[in-house]
Amino acid sequence: MTRRLVATDYGSPAQVLSVIDADDPVADDGHVVVAVAAAGLNPFDVKRVRGVMSSDPSALPLAIGGEAAGTVAHAGSGTGLAVGDRVAVYPVSGAFAEQVVVDAAAVHPIPDGASTEAAAGLLLAGVTAYDTVATLDVGADDVVLVHGGSGAVGSVAVVLAAARGATVIATASSTNHDYLRGLGAIPVSYHGDLAAAVRDAAPDAVTAVIDTVGTDAAIDASLQAVSPDRIVSIAAWGRADDGIVLLNGSSEASRANRRAAVAPLLDALADGTITVDIVGTFSFDDAAQAFDALDGPHPRGKYLLTP
Ligand SMILES: NC(=O)c1ccc[n+]([C@@H]2O[C@H](COP(=O)([O-])OP(=O)(O)OC[C@H]3O[C@@H](n4cnc5c(N)ncnc54)[C@H](OP(=O)(O)O)[C@@H]3O)[C@@H](O)[C@H]2O)c1
Repeated sequence: MTRRLVATDYGSPAQVLSVIDADDPVADDGHVVVAVAAAGLNPFDVKRVRGVMSSDPSALPLAIGGEAAGTVAHAGSGTGLAVGDRVAVYPVSGAFAEQVVVDAAAVHPIPDGASTEAAAGLLLAGVTAYDTVATLDVGADDVVLVHGGSGAVGSVAVVLAAARGATVIATASSTNHDYLRGLGAIPVSYHGDLAAAVRDAAPDAVTAVIDTVGTDAAIDASLQAVSPDRIVSIAAWGRADDGIVLLNGSSEASRANRRAAVAPLLDALADGTITVDIVGTFSFDDAAQAFDALDGPHPRGKYLLTP
């Protein structure tokens, strides 16, 4: 049997999360069973459990978890993988399980130098960040404003934009400003007059915006700086009428960016260009604590769940 964390209803994680025993998954041709060492928790998981995305009763019990890492437990033929290989799994549905079965295309060997735990929390946010930077075609002449630069997505976006030679300005709480400087960004607080703070901090006019926050304050300040087609957001779904570019991996271009991102992100993790700091690790039995922590103001870093 394999332990799985599911939501038996939509609502408060403490009330609806449950650990169940399910049959061991089986790998057919082209598929792989991965023994999960750790799985990354993301805001999307919290929103799904709370019923923000959908409250369809027919989807219950809800399989949750969008990324994980561990070792290959069984490899179907034609996968090129072997039992014991250290791998990251993304994309996947139901990653919060002792074992998951996935298409081999979603199983990525973890290079030496990258820890399994960091790999478990890298890819979902990382491919999203890569998609934002690629969509804007950020270059050395750009001055990029990143809203939420201390977050899981924002921090990778800062690193990737800076690596392309852009000047990066990033918003965060003041406790995270030294961290942003370490990533190569000019930090700005998101409290107060955001547009004025960005103008004061930017050495030259902003040419592109990556929004990972989605607040009206972030979008309004961005629209004062650049035209809507230079604002990419992964969170401001209520502002589509402003003509900004919204990304969620659903378009062919966005999907292609995200596929292309996986190998360079894992290499960057291995060579230390990108780091994933783990702020807390919780067993499936204590998972509601991690869900509640991520749902409010929380320290920087990823929460991991372990079987
Ligand atoms: N569309 C997609 O494909 C996609 C993919 C992944 C994630 N997302 C979404 O993107 C968002 C960010 O995800 P994440 O994993 O990066 O989250 P995260 O790690 O929790 O980061 C949140 C960031 O937002 C900042 N922040 C918090 N409250 C703020 C406010 N009122 N104003 C401005 N900034 C604020 C935080 O800064 P401080 O902590 O420094 O205050 C932090 O930098 C979530 O809504 C998630 O669902 C979308």
